[in-house]
Amino acid sequence: MDYGTAKRLLDEIGQGHALKFWEQLTPAQQEALLAQIGNIDFDAMRRIRALLAGGVAAGGSPAAAATGLAPAPVVELGGSTADDAYEVGAQALRQGQVGVILVAGGQGTRLGYDGPKGTYALAALSRASLFEIHARKILALERRFGAPLPFYIMTSQANDADTRRFFAQHGHFGLDPERVQFFAQGMLPGFWPDGRMVLEEPGRLFTAPDGHGGVLAALARTGMLADMRRRGITTLFYFQVDNPLVDVADPVFVGLHLTRGAGMSLKVCAKRDPAEGLGVVVDSAGRNAVVEYTELTDAQKQARRPDGELLFKFGSVAIHLFSLAFLERETSAGLPLHPAHKKIPFCDDQGRTVKPDRPNAYKFEKFIFDALPDAANPLVLAFAREDEFAPVKNAEGSDSPDTSRRAMMEKAARWFAACGVAVPRDAQGALAVNLEIDPAYANSPEELRARLPKAFAIAGDVWLR
Ligand code: UD1
Repeated sequence: MDYGTAKRLLDEIGQGHALKFWEQLTPAQQEALLAQIGNIDFDAMRRIRALLAGGVAAGGSPAAAATGLAPAPVVELGGSTADDAYEVGAQALRQGQVGVILVAGGQGTRLGYDGPKGTYALAALSRASLFEIHARKILALERRFGAPLPFYIMTSQANDADTRRFFAQHGHFGLDPERVQFFAQGMLPGFWPDGRMVLEEPGRLFTAPDGHGGVLAALARTGMLADMRRRGITTLFYFQVDNPLVDVADPVFVGLHLTRGAGMSLKVCAKRDPAEGLGVVVDSAGRNAVVEYTELTDAQKQARRPDGELLFKFGSVAIHLFSLAFLERETSAGLPLHPAHKKIPFCDDQGRTVKPDRPNAYKFEKFIFDALPDAANPLVLAFAREDEFAPVKNAEGSDSPDTSRRAMMEKAARWFAACGVAVPRDAQGALAVNLEIDPAYANSPEELRARLPKAFAIAGDVWLR
């Protein structure tokens, strides 16, 4: 884009101030600013300005605004249904029809870790990173089903290079690099309440990742959807980087989703307490929708059924399945934009960057789960939390590396117990040893049973790899 075009486009939409310091910029800064302007999603910008003009409360999931929200029906599994579903899912995996999407473009601000969150060294004994834990599960599935399971990783501009380097340095954790692909999500500018974009430096707009809903546009723009088609993939398993317990491409989940002919499905678990930060699945005018925890009122969070159970008992843990056809259609859906009032650094009239000490402007994000109301026959499947969800969100306290690591070890302990191996515990019942199982060694209790040496016993720390 050249200066004349940028000026005309920006002036037309009341954003001419973005070029206010143009004359003072070096040629390199001018070029970088024009590149930023060239990357702006003008459609999203128009929608954001309309939102700000109407009061930001209008942003967010349309379902959140509905009165009389009701929970969506949830499937709880057991017995032979699970066995039948496993066979259907396993068949799709054996035929190479499944792919995996990991969203890892977030900034991990709450964890306070400097680097892509996926590089965080989490495992008790090996210090394996979140990325390694996920990648080794994919390797285990490729071996179990004898077919490729392509891995698509969404990064952001801020962590793309570091993420690629990390995988390369670690030999892609044993995966074939041809099947591990990275694609960067889009960025959106920050906005003043009056709808003007925030200039962070004289030659730079403030921008932030456009939310994991940006995955749709990014998959299309970077050719990943076409790549999936080329490889014969029909079903995509989607998850977030922060959960080391995730049952990647769980065949039972895949089988149920396929049997139902669902466009999109999701897993939910019982919330720990009414205030836990999980989105809930609601029935909104006959369609399923997710309402984010930040958009539920306290009364909605606390509401109970006559039997005393929470009305919105189940939370979404951002584990989804999509049909490829649904993803392709949704790329043109224009997901809602969710505003967040933030402390956004800005450039004053003298060109100095100011770091505000209170929220001053808005960031906007798209959420992938807002695609749910468009999906045919969605499946909402409940699972046991201790087996599949222990995210790393905070540096300390709940949902921290410490609680997540413990949950991984307790899961390993249950697998050992299922194999008849006694696990040492102290008087309070806490594990007396550290346990770690590389998913590529065993990715299920059955695989563990098949591999454990005869008369295996635990006397101290155990790291199976
Ligand atoms: C998220 C979900 C919430 C769910 C919970 C389960 C949102 C808005 N909410 O909450 O409904 O119950 O997880 O753990 O997602 N990411 C990107 N790009 C972005 C923003 C985020 O790739 O622009 C990725 C992050 O890398 C991470 C995931 O999305 O893998 C979740 O982001 P985070 O901001 O941590 O979501 P939560 O508030 O924890």
